[in-house]
Amino acid sequence: MTNSAKTSTTHYEVQKKRRAQFIEEWRNNRRTVVHGVDVEIHETPRRISTGVYLGKDGDSPIRTVDAAVHQVTSGVVSTIHRHSWDAVMLCVGGFAWTEIDGKRISWGPGDSLYLPAWSWHRHGNDGDISARYMSFSSEPLIDVLGFGILEDGGDSPVAELPGHPGFAASMPGNDIYARRIRRLAADQIERFNGRLHTSWDELEFLQSPRGTRTTFLLDRAVGYRTSGLTMAMFEIGPGRAQSMHRHSGEAWLYVVEGQGHSFMGPEPDQGEDYEWGKGDLIVVDHYSWHQHFNDDMEKTARVVRVHILDTLLNTMNALCYPLNLLEEPPDHIRSQQTGDLKTIAWPEVERPSWP
Ligand SMILES: [Fe+2]
Ligand SMILES: [Fe+2]
Repeated sequence: MTNSAKTSTTHYEVQKKRRAQFIEEWRNNRRTVVHGVDVEIHETPRRISTGVYLGKDGDSPIRTVDAAVHQVTSGVVSTIHRHSWDAVMLCVGGFAWTEIDGKRISWGPGDSLYLPAWSWHRHGNDGDISARYMSFSSEPLIDVLGFGILEDGGDSPVAELPGHPGFAASMPGNDIYARRIRRLAADQIERFNGRLHTSWDELEFLQSPRGTRTTFLLDRAVGYRTSGLTMAMFEIGPGRAQSMHRHSGEAWLYVVEGQGHSFMGPEPDQGEDYEWGKGDLIVVDHYSWHQHFNDDMEKTARVVRVHILDTLLNTMNALCYPLNLLEEPPDHIRSQQTGDLKTIAWPEVERPSWP
């Protein structure tokens, strides 16, 4: 038998060229701040309108987590669909509902929802005003691995649609096959029973040494079982800043309220300032020093940070050891950057508003 697929270059050269091309393309797509006003919102056949902040379908390819805004107008019910990746929702305006595997959850601004992989879900609005939510999903990462599947169920009732992909639930014995079946089944069962909703009303903010007041919205620490997707909100005092740090990308910061700027640079004293305001998305897409400043001297700034580092960072930490993938300044520099935390007057926590 002859092999006709001959190449005149070596494995080493092919790989080197491929890696260089990949990183070149990735660099060309880097962003710093995506301004909400620049995001074009289009009607979709799902009957809800969508605009892409970051993601392949908005021509800004990324590697792990995409970001989009969706609008559910008054009286509309979307089609039902499901996919092989999971997603989180941050509700930013109006009141509406989301049905996850037949369970209806009503939401308002500031609420967070979790859409597990393979769950059938749709959205509806029974109110008089449009409702709006941001979504962040693991689709890019799942797509990188080649397992991206989306199924649209149109207007079919959930009871008529196929259930979750089946799995072997148990097998007696202590052999490696039985152990694998039990381990994977236990993990899936735990995931099907994870938390789906955090209401704004139950949030509790705590002051952090980084100079902000923070709360988890959607995280393992508050009962969620995601692919690693996590959302937390932090609030920066009037005229104050969060301390500088750097970590691996991708981390997104959605500005819920306020205005300010972020420093980003290759060194703590070498970089540029990027302005942001309500509805913008601050992009930390690689290992750069960054610090966020609230430029309003009267009001606080509220920012929701989203990433999938919980699972990925552990993996990357292990793969890159002894590189340090999360770097913070020494305590004395941090306190110079944040100022005296006791002098920040925090306002009453109110639901966000849109516009
Ligand atoms: Fe979805
Ligand atoms: Fe950060």
